[in-house]
Amino acid sequence: MSRRTTRLGILLSGRGSNFAAIARAIAEGRLTGCEIAVVISNVADAGGLDLARQLGLPTAVFVSKGRNRAEHDADVTACLRAHGVDLVCLAGYMRLLSPEFVAAFPERILNIHPSLLPAFPGLDAQGQALEYGAKVAGCTVHFVDEHLDHGVIILQKVVPVLDSDNAHTLAERILAEEHQAYAEAIGRVVSGRYRVVGRRFVAA
Ligand code: GAR
Repeated sequence: MSRRTTRLGILLSGRGSNFAAIARAIAEGRLTGCEIAVVISNVADAGGLDLARQLGLPTAVFVSKGRNRAEHDADVTACLRAHGVDLVCLAGYMRLLSPEFVAAFPERILNIHPSLLPAFPGLDAQGQALEYGAKVAGCTVHFVDEHLDHGVIILQKVVPVLDSDNAHTLAERILAEEHQAYAEAIGRVVSGRYRVVGRRFVAA
């Protein structure tokens, strides 16, 4: 039986290197069964939007600054629906989602975070890890629930923290893993061959 192509909606606020990695994985056939339907940003001059335009992908901007969260998110969810999005991928989207947004796409919103959750949620996760003295760091792809950096973990990748590291070098090393991890995690979710048991994401 052929499964319908899963339509991804990418949300980003910045340079969009994770989005670029997802787009590359699809173009190179490493990530199959899905396509990018739309790229949405809450920041008008986000670098990731330029890349989306270069790739010929539909883009949309809903500036969030100064706006009521629920109203802003209602615009974003309407846009996602209008583009037939099945799976929302937060790729450096630096904004909390309203409970209504999360409820609109139950277990259909993914996020990538540059730490081994539940350690170091929130901003500057790489700097937090370094300052804390952690010896390993990494990234986490997880389902988004109503709490910050909290939902069911789909996969994690680990990098060592070197004595010579500063926040920049550590972030770069984690980022390289993020670019592998996100496409891999999307592939697992798109395949549908998994179950969520409590907080555990396990192969079905
Ligand atoms: C990435 O490191 C991502 O993990 C992080 O923002 C960066 C975006 O980079 N996200 C968070 O910290 C979310 N809590 P990118 O724009 O190049 O993909």
